[in-house]
Amino acid sequence: MIKVAIMGYGTIGSGVYEVLERNQEILAETVGQGIEVKYILDLRDFEGSSVEKKIVHDFSVICQDGEIKIVVETMGGLDPAYPFVKACLEAGKHVATSNKALVAAYGTELLAIAREKKVNFMFEASVGGGIPIIRPLYRCLMGEKIEEITGILNGTTNFILTKMDKEGASFEWSLKEAQALGYAERNPEADVEGHDTCRKIAILTAMATGREVDYEEIPTEGMTGITDTDFRYADALGTSIKLVGSSRMEGNKVYAWVAPLMIDKNHPLYAVNDVYNGILVKGNMIGTTMYYGSGAGKLPTASAVVADIVEEAKHLDSNIPIGWSSQKLPIAPMSDAVYRYFVRVSGKYEDRRDMVEAVFGKAKVVELEGLDEFAFLTAELKESRFQENLDILKVELTAEYEKVLQVIRADR
Ligand code: HSE
Repeated sequence: MIKVAIMGYGTIGSGVYEVLERNQEILAETVGQGIEVKYILDLRDFEGSSVEKKIVHDFSVICQDGEIKIVVETMGGLDPAYPFVKACLEAGKHVATSNKALVAAYGTELLAIAREKKVNFMFEASVGGGIPIIRPLYRCLMGEKIEEITGILNGTTNFILTKMDKEGASFEWSLKEAQALGYAERNPEADVEGHDTCRKIAILTAMATGREVDYEEIPTEGMTGITDTDFRYADALGTSIKLVGSSRMEGNKVYAWVAPLMIDKNHPLYAVNDVYNGILVKGNMIGTTMYYGSGAGKLPTASAVVADIVEEAKHLDSNIPIGWSSQKLPIAPMSDAVYRYFVRVSGKYEDRRDMVEAVFGKAKVVELEGLDEFAFLTAELKESRFQENLDILKVELTAEYEKVLQVIRADR
């Protein structure tokens, strides 16, 4: 029997317990022996529940018990998750976590300790919830040079954007709906401002390149500026708007960013709607692969944690070489990246045609009935060039008392 401890008995932690209970026979068969939860660390007592006798409030009980081989960290946040996980690894225990903040901030150090102690630090659930994405990167795609990872990595914002797209709802109404359904937190900042996606694309980029990525260097824009009017244009253009995290590896450069992206109907992420996540990974030999499923939620996320427990249980005496080194990967400035750009401008197109064509050349133009504005989609441009052109357009428009209303990057 392999003895496990769970730190944090919230939504994911209790989900891990449930998966271990419900699938115990199949898990025992896969591992070759049973898996038993010996301790659950939580501030609460859970009196009268089936786990009451397993609850401990003192972390040292877990850390000092030599019988505990695997520790699950589902507390979230950095304090005390970071010192607790570090102490467990230093004590020679394997760790499985769902905590993207922990992996993005301290992954390099924790992976190094795991290697030194010949244990494993695993984090499949930290990105894409239940979707297998970390394991494909270090196992199935081992023969590939990864060229691009672009993902819808946040279920809450994808739910909000889908409501705006399919139902013509406003951002405010869709956010309230997401909160009522329990997807969005009362303070939704981490999701809607893109911080959650930023940590996830940092982890994926580090996994794909084998080098440390500082998530604070990744340019991050949220989706609070996207409006229902943008979606009317998107619809007219046969496109949609998604909040994505993206990394493109070009030569020795990596362009990584988080922002709303306009994608057309043929894009593999176009059909990823509601709370689902989808991750596109391009390899130099395999081409495009897609990973799709529940990016959040109790049992899907717990399932990914349990997969790590099983992996660790099958490698109790060895470190599986995964992750990245402490060699830092610089993020290339966005000014060199090449995209198309969707731009909305106030006023009538017929009065602005010459101005737009002079600055941007031939662009795809859309005018919607009943609006005193128009939009255009540029050809592919280096971001620095686009910004220069946009500045020229803004100066011209200011003179005419009109202005640029919106700019969204569009897929190439
Ligand atoms: N808030 C996150 C989301 C939870 O909505 O995707 C999963 O990381």
